Amino acid sequence: MSTAVHAEGVATTTPDWAAIRAQFPLLQRRVHDKPLIYLDSANTSQKPATVIEAVDDFYRQHNANVSRAVHALGSEATAAYEGARRRLAAFLKVQPDELVLCSGTTFAINLVAYSYALPRLKPGDAILLTRMEHHANIVPWQLVAERTGAVIKVAELDANGDLDVEAMLAKMTPEVRIVSLAHVSNVLGTVNPVREICRQARKRGITSVVDGSQAAPHLGLDIPSLDCDFYAITGHKMCGPTGTGVLWARREHLQAMPPFLGGGEMIREVRFEGTVFNDPPYRFEAGTPNIAGFVGLAAAVDFLDGIGMEAIAAREHELGHYLRSALEREPGVRIFGNPRQRTAVVSFLVEGAHAHDLATLLDLQGVAVRSGHHCAHPLMQHFGVPATCRASLAFYNTHAEIDAFITALQKVRGLLA
Ligand SMILES: Cc1ncc(COP(=O)(O)O)c(C=O)c1O
Repeated sequence: MSTAVHAEGVATTTPDWAAIRAQFPLLQRRVHDKPLIYLDSANTSQKPATVIEAVDDFYRQHNANVSRAVHALGSEATAAYEGARRRLAAFLKVQPDELVLCSGTTFAINLVAYSYALPRLKPGDAILLTRMEHHANIVPWQLVAERTGAVIKVAELDANGDLDVEAMLAKMTPEVRIVSLAHVSNVLGTVNPVREICRQARKRGITSVVDGSQAAPHLGLDIPSLDCDFYAITGHKMCGPTGTGVLWARREHLQAMPPFLGGGEMIREVRFEGTVFNDPPYRFEAGTPNIAGFVGLAAAVDFLDGIGMEAIAAREHELGHYLRSALEREPGVRIFGNPRQRTAVVSFLVEGAHAHDLATLLDLQGVAVRSGHHCAHPLMQHFGVPATCRASLAFYNTHAEIDAFITALQKVRGLLA
């Protein structure tokens, strides 16, 4: 860290980004004999050594199942797992017993759909989604809509990829029971005004669900301030291990919800005549959880907090601006959307080239971008394309990498001309 003194005389520290980047072993790799330029963090982030070591240490020193064994290792594993729950709660500014630890956003939204919505929805009820949702926030709702006779309504976007909030509020009619939306779009980086939308939903008695997959890694979260009912995050996009995630829910919802999956850990007593279920959040955590994964995720939030989410957001904002401006200067490049508030994600195409060809040729130069529909078919339909390329940044990327990406893109354009 270096220290700067502002005009008011307040000293602030600027993180040493090069030293932070050096803590990510994988970023030192070469692919196709070129230095790796990883621009696919919206897909999954890379992991710092502290996360890798925390997982390694768990398996080397503490591995046992949770809540089952009274022996020393069993107690250590349980303490580590519950410690991770408390650590995540502190990161999200909520209470530990309001957090269901699960495999990720996909599981979390399915849990809300099946356990909260399915018993409540009736024919004619509506679920309001937005055009920019990831399939994980569309398909579970379609499945419960099919079973209950509810219908899906869609809030549309403008040409910039911003939600038309007025039109969305107008769609919050009395038959709407649930509104579910992304905090941040995985394709455009749009940051949605979720606080305003959830507040308006609450006023109308509509339950709100927020998919925070792309927000948690980039924005400092204060879930209670959002006024939502449910908030889902996935650990692997925020420097944590794959197969980890969290559903935050208001305590009264968790208490009223029946179990989603049955098995060990989620019960108090089982008889063939019937089962008494455990209290939330354990009622929703059937079976052996990803204990090592959550130990790693706790290390990941320690790492992120060690840098500071404000510093991360500022760094990514600056890098995102640099990336977008550089792409805008390139002839023949079409950029999708121009949201007012956004994270460091840019979707683009090059005139005359298919997204997969572009990504393949970039990969040969060491540049990893994602190509495809990004699990957002309805958004692709909005833009009238089957696929885009997406460059997505994290705080560990550098300006030099963005320059190298642009040089690689120019070379690809030459090859495709
Ligand atoms: C906005 C959004 N929602 C949901 C998901 C699904 O996350 P997971 O596959 O970790 O459950 C993703 C992952 O790409 C996403 O970007």
